[in-house]
Amino acid sequence: MASSTSFLDAMAIRRSVYSLKNTSPVSQERISEIVHEAVKYCPSAFNIRSTRCIILFGSSHTALWDHAAEVTPASASKEVYDLLVPRIGLFRAAYGTILFFDDPTTISNVPAPFHPFFTQYPEIHDHAAGMLQFAVWTALAAEGLGCNLQHYQPMITPWVEKTFDVPAHWKLTAQLVFGEMVDGPGPEKERTGLGEAIRVFGDKKED
Ligand SMILES: Cc1cc2nc3c(=O)[nH]c(=O)nc-3n(C[C@H](O)[C@H](O)[C@H](O)COP(=O)(O)O)c2cc1C
Repeated sequence: MASSTSFLDAMAIRRSVYSLKNTSPVSQERISEIVHEAVKYCPSAFNIRSTRCIILFGSSHTALWDHAAEVTPASASKEVYDLLVPRIGLFRAAYGTILFFDDPTTISNVPAPFHPFFTQYPEIHDHAAGMLQFAVWTALAAEGLGCNLQHYQPMITPWVEKTFDVPAHWKLTAQLVFGEMVDGPGPEKERTGLGEAIRVFGDKKED
């Protein structure tokens, strides 16, 4: 099923939305399809496709955030603790969570002479992870879902590995919380620094 939102419009719609409901404007099958398509079509170095996802709905989703609240260290400064715990309550109140992983063993699919490339540029895995996270986040936003991106690893990693039978070599990279928005996406954020962000050299007159 195609979305009617253009790619650039979808990028503009995508926000970090924290106030989410335990409902969704689209089916669980559609959400799974979007994740599947994003994993399939996102580029990766040497096409190793090292990204992995686990989608949590219902009690699996709430159990994740119950666990995160449990393991949030009370030893964190009061300021951090008081921010984190109510936030985790917001994640729990949402509809689902996508766990993103990277499987670094997929470099074995690449001929051995190219393996040093991955040693020299270990950030390659983070780039692939970021591309997928952005693609899924944006595609879900285009379907009318609100999302926010979290990084509760390594705190939740042992529990996630045990609970969802995650292969030991998968590395947890992020968690995308999603659900129907309580108050819409909120106002457009200020986008600072655009004047310095992009430079163009050469122009049509040179052709
Ligand atoms: C690489 C990356 C990591 C982020 N990590 C977190 C995070 O751990 N928790 C969180 O609430 N938001 C996180 N965010 C969301 C950013 O704070 C947010 O995208 C930014 O403030 C711009 O706001 P917008 O998403 O509404 O456009 C992250 C975003 C990116 C791109």
